[in-house]
Amino acid sequence: MNHERSARLFDRAKLLVAGGISSQIRVNEPAGVPLFFTHARGSRMWDADGNEYIDYIQGMGPNLFGHSPDFINRQVSDDMKKGYVFAAQFERELEVAEMALSMIPMEDATVRFASSGTEIDQLLFRTMRGFTGRPKIVKFEGHYHGWMDSVNWSVHPPLDEAGPEDAPVAVGESAGMDRATAEGLVICQWNDLEKLEKVFANHPGEIAGVITEPILANTNCIVPAPGYMEGVQRLCRENGALLAFDEVITGFRVAAGGAQELLGITPDLATYAKAMAGGFPIAMIAGRRDVMDYIGNGTVYHGGSFNSNVMSIAAAYASLKHIQDEGDEFYRNLNAKGHRLMDGLRAVAKSQESDLHVQGLGSVFAISFTTKQEITNWRDHARNCDDGKYQRFAREMLKQGIRLASNGRTHLSSAHTNEDIDETVAAAAAVLPTL
Ligand SMILES: Cc1ncc(COP(=O)(O)O)c(C=O)c1O
Repeated sequence: MNHERSARLFDRAKLLVAGGISSQIRVNEPAGVPLFFTHARGSRMWDADGNEYIDYIQGMGPNLFGHSPDFINRQVSDDMKKGYVFAAQFERELEVAEMALSMIPMEDATVRFASSGTEIDQLLFRTMRGFTGRPKIVKFEGHYHGWMDSVNWSVHPPLDEAGPEDAPVAVGESAGMDRATAEGLVICQWNDLEKLEKVFANHPGEIAGVITEPILANTNCIVPAPGYMEGVQRLCRENGALLAFDEVITGFRVAAGGAQELLGITPDLATYAKAMAGGFPIAMIAGRRDVMDYIGNGTVYHGGSFNSNVMSIAAAYASLKHIQDEGDEFYRNLNAKGHRLMDGLRAVAKSQESDLHVQGLGSVFAISFTTKQEITNWRDHARNCDDGKYQRFAREMLKQGIRLASNGRTHLSSAHTNEDIDETVAAAAAVLPTL
């Protein structure tokens, strides 16, 4: 497979765009050079050299219906004829709020819109502190809540820097971060209730809230151990802290009601972004009315020129309407395809005695290389998964026309077909012996 034109464009990009890329994760393209794409449609993408791929990155999650679905294109192009950015309210915004609130399990909730997951999580932290008047938020290792200073700590910390199991230290993910922001966090290991109990015991009256990915999509796509999330919620309630779910990946992807629906737990606040508008930039916080009133009355300040812009709201409207029109069938079909792929990969791994491992849910799951049956948190992943081998796997799969994410997170879309999936499984069967 030839990537000459992408390589030439990358050389040009490096002179113009820092590092030749617009988001750091894109540097890790399995092709060895960040690829340039000319177009994408449904499950497929085409690069500048004319190579065609079945895409499981799907924008890192937003493209729930695949690339460029007609029903979103139509709604966006119709609505945008009436204006782009009003810096004011319009009725479609309310329709989206009504649809979203009818889908997520929270009762008597209200919402606010923004443009990215990073941004809405910042509003979440501010709201938790503003409502409780407390300074600290519990953040778990292995969880990602955006790239801002206040939270880009201990996402995937090297174990030799991460500190003791019982009292992890905050490890910054970047140079230039304001060290003082780490004071606003207490870093904790996830999926182990005793660790969180100790955090609450050690910080009486200080914890405003606990932020968690309810299903840990950013590390091995881990579903929490039975009873864990119930325990987290109980500890929050006993200690007067808020529970917040970061559903930026899981929201509208794993079920109409997101991870809340699957786990049967309703947090006080939740954030949404990626899949909500099928690829257009949108984010939403939903939460208990009394907490959200702090935003509503301006006590907790929230702004943003592009909040609820016409195009993003139109795309969200089309996306949620599509899901509602298809009803349960939508997630049944999406998950069935995901499970077909997961089962296919497992079968190939078994027949070849490979340590390829898949974990997660049909609509989003992780591929890694480990002999463990199940990975349970970041330290478990860091100790037991061979990330180098995964990188080699992704590189070889790309040569077979299968585009996988550099972090192993694999996104299904409703545009993937059974033929796509069978092609992917056949590619894996060809690649595994070469690793
Ligand atoms: C769980 C989670 N929260 C927040 C974010 C940040 O979202 P964005 O990239 O839209 O800023 C991400 C991005 O991957 C995420 O996975």
